[in-house]
Amino acid sequence: MTAETQTQSKIKVGIDAMGFSGAQCYIDMVDLAKARGVDPAKFIVGIGQKQMSVATPCEDTVSMAALAGRKALESFNIDPSEIGTLIIGTETGIDHSKPATAYVHELLGLPTNCRQFETKHACYGATAGLTSAADWISSGRARGRKALIIASDIARYGIDTPGEPTQGAGAVAMVVSENPRLFELDMNCVGDFSSQVMDFWRPLYSKYAFADGHYSIDCYLEALAHSLKDAQSVSDDLDRFKPDNLAACFYHVPFVKMARKAHTCFLEQHIDRKLDLQDVADKEIFTKSYGELTAPWLSVNAQVGNIYTGSLFLSMIDFISQENRDLENRDISIFSYGSGCGASFMLAKVVDGAMDYAQALNPRAELDRRQKLTIEEYEKIVALAEDIDMNDGLAPDPARWNLKGDIFYLGTHNHSRQYGPQSMRGQLQRVS
Ligand code: CAA
Repeated sequence: MTAETQTQSKIKVGIDAMGFSGAQCYIDMVDLAKARGVDPAKFIVGIGQKQMSVATPCEDTVSMAALAGRKALESFNIDPSEIGTLIIGTETGIDHSKPATAYVHELLGLPTNCRQFETKHACYGATAGLTSAADWISSGRARGRKALIIASDIARYGIDTPGEPTQGAGAVAMVVSENPRLFELDMNCVGDFSSQVMDFWRPLYSKYAFADGHYSIDCYLEALAHSLKDAQSVSDDLDRFKPDNLAACFYHVPFVKMARKAHTCFLEQHIDRKLDLQDVADKEIFTKSYGELTAPWLSVNAQVGNIYTGSLFLSMIDFISQENRDLENRDISIFSYGSGCGASFMLAKVVDGAMDYAQALNPRAELDRRQKLTIEEYEKIVALAEDIDMNDGLAPDPARWNLKGDIFYLGTHNHSRQYGPQSMRGQLQRVS
């Protein structure tokens, strides 16, 4: 390590603030299973999902990102003027050219000398933003300012497809800064993995993702094993990677069962053999480790569904909201996977005092305010979403689903997307 990198590694950088804003409607997975003629146990136990958030046509990548970003700033008393970089990671782009950040920059009143851009790499987009922001701060170029990284996505696979029970919608915002209050990232041993695979993708002509589902699971697990090895290869303390020394293991969560598969793979890397879950001793090893390190932070994911690039960070919000003070000052592992594919494995530390923000981060109120939809209502929303992006179309009235708030996608006028409160709809109607 050179003297220069040693200096950089001394800067404490990480996640200083977070905020979650999800779509305001949901369906119950038992209802969905019944409507599709599937045994509900497949969705609840086999896939691990209880509910799934559904975005109405008034909620999109921008509106959810702005609400999550505002929540992170307000809950942690951060003035918009402190933000010098805004990055939105999304695979639900709203324009082929203009980044979603341009709208969010305006909606949040960020300074004009704040750079802003969008990152796309399937579910890895926000992680790319997070590590870039950490590097920006570590390099000294941030001039004391902070970065706002927002993961915002709507997962759409289509009605009656294998991916349908693994949809969801929501945004997680993170402020990255020096001397963070929540998680301190260890930028000295981040492991990466990339490989060109066709496991999941969404061509320009499709609103729906294409997935080779079972193959995508294999790609995810292979990426986990490789990126872990890469991280270990640059670490001078391999003991820190041992499951017994970690307070929590976070994974990308496209559906809850995937995190269980990921943790199995993680344990197997350590014991250097396959676990046989039919064997009593192996089952005990797995159940204890998964039950302590991963399962406790998946209950929000089980209710929200896949929010693609934000789903990993949603479980980190769940972790803090449980206010487990014994886990402060301990290491955690973070694994991010984006189909196509790219992945990173890293270690971080839970900052002393992080649990003081448990209430600020509690996602329960956000979940409780959601409206439950029947499967018929959900299917109507899916049909409406087909042509919601057409020019000079007014999006439906948010009141139709009893949506609350002041930032909605109102429609596209003169080829320009319009955002604002419900009251702005009248003005748009008049100019149309
Ligand atoms: N009771 C209990 N369990 C049941 C059951 C029942 N009646 N019926 C089935 N199951 C279990 C199965 O045994 C299986 O469990 P295991 O995986 O542990 O064996 C699980 O339920 C799912 O059953 P199937 O594999 O038969 O389900 P499927 O073929 O319909 O599809 C899927 C599952 C492949 C995950 C599909 O939902 C899909 O394609 N999802 C989208 C792709 C995806 O999320 N991939 C994840 C990795 S890629 C990634 O992470 C990026 C991203 O966000 C997309």
